[in-house]
Amino acid sequence: MARFLVTGGAGFIGSHLVDALAGAGAKVRVLDDLSTGRRENLPAAARLIVGDVADPGTVRAAMAGVDGCFHLAAIASVARAAEDWLGTHRVNLGGTIAVLDAARARGVPVVYASSAAVYGDCPDQPITETAPTRPLSAYGADKLGGELHAAVAARVFGVANVGLRFFNVYGPRQDPGSPYSGVISIFAGQLRRGEPVEVFGDGGQTRDFVAVADVVAALRAAMGRIGPGDAAGRITTPAVPQALVFNVCTGIATSIRALAAELAALEGGTAVIREGPARPGDIRHSVGCPDAARAALGLGPPMPLRAGLAGVRAWLDAGLRLERT
Ligand SMILES: NC(=O)c1ccc[n+]([C@@H]2O[C@H](COP(=O)([O-])OP(=O)(O)OC[C@H]3O[C@@H](n4cnc5c(N)ncnc54)[C@H](O)[C@@H]3O)[C@@H](O)[C@H]2O)c1
Repeated sequence: MARFLVTGGAGFIGSHLVDALAGAGAKVRVLDDLSTGRRENLPAAARLIVGDVADPGTVRAAMAGVDGCFHLAAIASVARAAEDWLGTHRVNLGGTIAVLDAARARGVPVVYASSAAVYGDCPDQPITETAPTRPLSAYGADKLGGELHAAVAARVFGVANVGLRFFNVYGPRQDPGSPYSGVISIFAGQLRRGEPVEVFGDGGQTRDFVAVADVVAALRAAMGRIGPGDAAGRITTPAVPQALVFNVCTGIATSIRALAAELAALEGGTAVIREGPARPGDIRHSVGCPDAARAALGLGPPMPLRAGLAGVRAWLDAGLRLERT
């Protein structure tokens, strides 16, 4: 039986990963400070260590005896990184270094969350992994810093690792305040209340919305590439330590208006759009190229947006039912 540490495992993406790993029979340990994550997100089979990923001793202890580490813990907010530059840096880059350092001490392969934020405003779309990295936020700069340290971890310290640059991940359990795809919960709420859908600017901005189930598949496939072959316990021979980086995206550009229309269609209606002021610094287009990840990790086609949104709607419905009881 493979044993995994998932940092940030009580959060949105992490908890879906924990569900999948535990469901496949792996032993899962979670390190999370519960700052945005929730204990209730975790299955009973997972062991939760409440602690700080930027504390080296805590991370070393959490990493003891595991076959692989998924590092997802972060302050996943561009706005918070702008407000508390040094504090988020401590967690987002310091936490990543603490994980890589503990992994080197114990020879543990690491799959970690990077972000499309490393690209900034990229003129060439869809964005491939070879595009220049010019982050426009402290958050993106720390994610890029994490990739640089991961490359050193592989080259110098022999830590095999894969960084995954997530685009706009969406799905059940997502905080409506999420800068990535919280817009989905917000629009769904406005549509249900019969209100117009409020967009920034003309709503023509495009994003690459990737379903959390597809992100979990990419995380597990990446671990299979460098460490335990699958969660059921087959261990592949560790490859020569390498640092790989892939986009995790669909390659499909969805405008914010089109997103509203998809959600309205699920509710059986049409969306009335109300245009608001444009957000200063808003990136107009952000669509990734998924080809390298598909080829290297053997990923299947992405979940269609409508199917993924139906999953979010079912989760929102279940929440409303709970609120009423
Ligand atoms: N959601 C997206 O679209 C998206 C896109 C790009 C990258 N990412 C990255 O994916 C990862 C997961 O993001 P998410 O959307 O699930 O966010 P999330 O906020 O739901 O999950 C982050 C988790 O990390 C935990 N955490 C925060 N600070 C910590 C600390 N100091 N010590 C221990 N745990 C700590 C939180 O409690 C939370 O459970 C993050 O690294 C994020 O930067 C997410």
